[in-house]
Amino acid sequence: MKLFIQTLGCAMNERDSAHMIAELRDKKHYTLTNDIKQADLILINTCSVREKPEKKLFSEIGAFAKEKKAGAKIGVCGCTASHLGEEIIKKAPSVDFVLGARNVSKITQVLERPKAVEVDIDYDDSTYVFASSQGMGIKAHLNISIGCDKKCSYCIVPFTRGKEISVPTDLLISEAKKCVASGVKELLLLGQNVNNYGVRFSHSHPKTNFTQLLRALSEIDGLYRIRFTSPHPLHMDDEFLEEFASNPVIAKGIHIPLQSGSSQILKMMRRGYDKQWYLNRIAKLKSLVPNVGIGTDIIVGFPTESEQDFEDTMEVLSLVEFDTLYSFVYSPRPHTSAFEYDKSMLVSPEVAKERLARLQNLHKEILSKKAQLEIGRIHNVLIENHYNGEGQCWSEGRSSSNKLIKILDKKCEIGSIVKVEITHNEGGGLMGRFINELSLSEALASKEYFQNPIYIQEGALC
Ligand code: 5AD
Ligand code: SF4
Repeated sequence: MKLFIQTLGCAMNERDSAHMIAELRDKKHYTLTNDIKQADLILINTCSVREKPEKKLFSEIGAFAKEKKAGAKIGVCGCTASHLGEEIIKKAPSVDFVLGARNVSKITQVLERPKAVEVDIDYDDSTYVFASSQGMGIKAHLNISIGCDKKCSYCIVPFTRGKEISVPTDLLISEAKKCVASGVKELLLLGQNVNNYGVRFSHSHPKTNFTQLLRALSEIDGLYRIRFTSPHPLHMDDEFLEEFASNPVIAKGIHIPLQSGSSQILKMMRRGYDKQWYLNRIAKLKSLVPNVGIGTDIIVGFPTESEQDFEDTMEVLSLVEFDTLYSFVYSPRPHTSAFEYDKSMLVSPEVAKERLARLQNLHKEILSKKAQLEIGRIHNVLIENHYNGEGQCWSEGRSSSNKLIKILDKKCEIGSIVKVEITHNEGGGLMGRFINELSLSEALASKEYFQNPIYIQEGALC
């Protein structure tokens, strides 16, 4: 039996897809295919955070239905499945089942029930042990909580993924150990509000917060790095920041969604913090980890956003100098409180687009300035990929601060940790020279961020 799966949206959806693939492999003997015509089962794992991809869903279902072989099933999963439920089958009768984002552990059950719609928003699979993903490679995702208790006024996710429940700590530690035993070097902890971990468990559970969980996971032998996404700025207390800074297993790259730099807009977004709070947390973080990599999400054109509000966002961008930026034009979503605003409060699409372009241009300038500063710096790179052929040879991987670095003329083993000096930039990417390979303990003990003013050109190292 062959499975074709298309995954849209965030890392959480990727993790859900990985779980479904593993369940279908172990319990129903499916193997993956990239050829839709060969597939016995077609899964579309959807995102509903903005309107556009949701709108495209029905034309996609139509195209898949035309291409599929006779008897092949189509299942719609994920956030749009939670959001639209049986409406999907009514509108697209070629769909065989609908499986909500909170119900992925039921994938093998819905398969057997014609026209099943399984979108129970109160369903709790926080203690479900999924079949393990084979061949995880060197990086694995670990879901530490389901759902989200926040009520950001623009966000549909609490509606599609339900209330927040944390996965028990012992289950996480045993899953993490399994990953490491199979060769995983880097774990990405996932949660809609990841640093609110421990707020609620399904059953009685010793009190554990996010910082304690990080500490416990970082003690697993053989684990090199832990990353996590997305933390909420509101829950970034000093204890967490100090652990982040001092624990060598915690990678020094962090995503901290800003959403807006205007305190007035943040209030309307119900984010629970203002511009000053955000800048204060960043200042504390930078004082503890001077070359920390910081990423963010920003929404422009939120209802009532004035030119001054937008300038506040530009100011925060200039002050923080984010290393990565995901930026979006506000998209009104049903089941959110901002959806109820009067139409007169909306920002015109032209103004929003123009602001998005200004924001992205400023970010490009920041990035090119920061890329120049990288030259001469030393990073420990966990190798994720390499290429060798047609007279060319290179390897690539990420620094602790999450920068993608390409090492020319050196074929490094995937999963190895190498010390690299940044030599130049090419098309916005960082290029480096191999210095030497490090053992896990050497890598954890070594400092990454020192300037090396002398760059020695080396020949081909392959
Ligand atoms: N419109 C535009 N962007 C949104 N996001 C969430 N909801 C909306 C919306 N209604 C963005 C936020 C979030 C990221 C995953 O998507 O920036 O952090
Ligand atoms: Fe992920 Fe949110 Fe999209 Fe759901 S709606 S897939 S949680 S980004």
